Amino acid sequence: MTISFDNQVAIVTGAGGGLGRAYALELARRGARVLINDLGGATDGTGSSNSAAAVAQEIEASGGEAIANGGSVTDEAAMNAMVQQALDKWGRVDVFIANAGILRDRTFAKMDLTDYRAVIDVHLIGTVCGLKAAWPIMREQQYGRIVVTSSGAGLHGNFGQTNYSAAKLGLVGLMKALKSEGEKYGIRANAIAPGAATRMTEALLPEDVKSKMVPEAVAPGVVYLCSEDAPNGTILNAQAGFFSISRIVDTQGHFFADGCSAEDVQEHWDEITDPEGQTAYTRIEEAAAAGWKMLGQ
Ligand code: NAI
Repeated sequence: MTISFDNQVAIVTGAGGGLGRAYALELARRGARVLINDLGGATDGTGSSNSAAAVAQEIEASGGEAIANGGSVTDEAAMNAMVQQALDKWGRVDVFIANAGILRDRTFAKMDLTDYRAVIDVHLIGTVCGLKAAWPIMREQQYGRIVVTSSGAGLHGNFGQTNYSAAKLGLVGLMKALKSEGEKYGIRANAIAPGAATRMTEALLPEDVKSKMVPEAVAPGVVYLCSEDAPNGTILNAQAGFFSISRIVDTQGHFFADGCSAEDVQEHWDEITDPEGQTAYTRIEEAAAAGWKMLGQ
């Protein structure tokens, strides 16, 4: 089925370059009116420029509709103003892609709290600031599609990125809770864990894969997550045309009906961690019920 965003309004943060730009261009090509947000700073979050305006102009030049916003995602008032800007121009907000991000990589021993807070602030609090502004609109419309940006670094951990990894898995928790709260209002939330050659990763990727790991190869996955038919609560991995999902699973585990000691846990560790029969619960009630069943409830 063709995916169209005719009559829909999308906001993409950090869309002045890299992945966000690719998402915005593809949404616009499919009929969305797009607000391009970007502070236009360096990869470490310092400085600013008008990169958002350049992408908005690019969309307009190819016949689409776009407006630019240069606010920082960490600024609550700026994010309220950004959503109001989209409302004033187009009257609704259907899609919100929280994509803006920075890096301040260092080992945990060397990382100071300024770099810790800056990264958590942009990725996690920055996502919350934008979504807090868009959420009441989506609830009222009884429709919304949200994509937050996670990362393999958050899902699996990465050396030198304790700040980034913490923020990126935090976003999965945010998304999963929003999934539950949004359901009855027609709002769906998902996470993308992308992989692409952008200024953020260009120093890390081998030359021979760069030409395949283009942002445009991630965009189809994100566009699907923004569509009417989108799933709810998934973590989609996307790079170079390869798509898969990540799940958080609970093992069957072991129940000590008569209490236990630390040594008992040690002794049964293989059983506790045995992947046979593990389950990916989609809601906390299911996970809790599995535990209560052991208690005979
Ligand atoms: P990028 O550096 O090209 O894009 C990030 C954009 O966010 C930049 O344009 C930047 O100006 C903007 N931004 C930063 N702080 C901002 C703020 N406070 N307010 C508004 N805009 C701000 O890098 P890329 O790769 O396109 O990253 C996009 C997202 O994807 C980020 O969240 C990143 O962590 C995530 N990601 C990227 C991966 C990759 O392989 N490129 C891997 C995993 C996650």
